Amino acid sequence: MPEVIFGKGSIDQAGDGCARLGAQRVLVVSDDGVQAAGWTERVMESCLSAGLSVSLFTGVSINPTSEEVEACAGQYIHDSCDAVVGVGGGSVLDVAKAAAILATNGGHIRDYEGIDHIHRPLPPLVMVTTTAGSGSDVSQFAIILDPERKKKMTIVSKSLVPDISIVDPAVLSTKSARLTASTGLDVLTHAIESYVSIASTPLTDVHAKSSIQLCAKYLRESVASADNQYAKEQMAIASLHAGLAFSNAILGAVHAIAHSIGGHYPFLHGDINAVMLPHVMKFNASAAPGRFKDIAHLLGENTDGLSSSEASDLAIAHVERLAVDIGAPLTLTGMGFKEESIPIISEISLEDACMITNPRMITADEVAALLYQAL
Ligand SMILES: [Fe+2]
Repeated sequence: MPEVIFGKGSIDQAGDGCARLGAQRVLVVSDDGVQAAGWTERVMESCLSAGLSVSLFTGVSINPTSEEVEACAGQYIHDSCDAVVGVGGGSVLDVAKAAAILATNGGHIRDYEGIDHIHRPLPPLVMVTTTAGSGSDVSQFAIILDPERKKKMTIVSKSLVPDISIVDPAVLSTKSARLTASTGLDVLTHAIESYVSIASTPLTDVHAKSSIQLCAKYLRESVASADNQYAKEQMAIASLHAGLAFSNAILGAVHAIAHSIGGHYPFLHGDINAVMLPHVMKFNASAAPGRFKDIAHLLGENTDGLSSSEASDLAIAHVERLAVDIGAPLTLTGMGFKEESIPIISEISLEDACMITNPRMITADEVAALLYQAL
């Protein structure tokens, strides 16, 4: 796990963090939206104040591609940088991490798809998250789109765990309600999938359970008011917990399917999760009945005297209600998904690393059935 610096104003410690890691010239990776909000400048100023020189890369899209990673790594090498600072949401942080792979390992980012294919150490990584969502600031994951194959690559390696993660709740207040809802449901999906993962452990359970409770208590409030700093802070903690849980327990079918859909459509990752989560929960419930009963309880449902199956139904209904309450998309077709994509999405999702830890074995036909249910 990285060193985590948490709290209002912690964004200004990015430069010191880089200096402590021995950096002299940092590549700051960000995007136009985060730059317009002023956070990129703030991080660059902290680097300059720490005596570092800075190179800035902002060419990151919402579903970042291998070309963006190559351009970012090319700038790192051209400008003789020796550390990478990501300032943004999951897309920015994933590009920062993936560019760091190429900076010291070379080759094409496709060479590192899957689990544990990085063999040389990465440059120092400092991540400043601007969303309570991706968990990329603490996880060993990076997700990058390969446009040629229309496939989101899941890259998993201990090397991708950042050295320092900076979580400043004040930064989250500039995020729109729409993005707060989408990234918040991504957090809840991370927590639920890691809790029912076949790779879960007592340690990941602690983080997953805390995250589920915090999402149930504070996601609605966090979406409802940009000024509710307490709710935003609690969702930032929920995101950290979920990131620590899934970094070690990995995820499941929701994310495998979401990555596959994301390779074909420019949807927000959290929106796809929001639609697929209840359907996958129904499919998985029989494989981990006690765990789904726990989830219902953690979400605040009264499960006294209920069977595991009855409690699972409550958990699923709770998740569906939450998505409605915060205005998340409820169907795939509502987002623009086309039914004819189902066969290819079903096949590709089986290849995703996240499918390995789903609690119930799943076939392409069963994935297709879930997609039809979610249309
Ligand atoms: Fe996610």
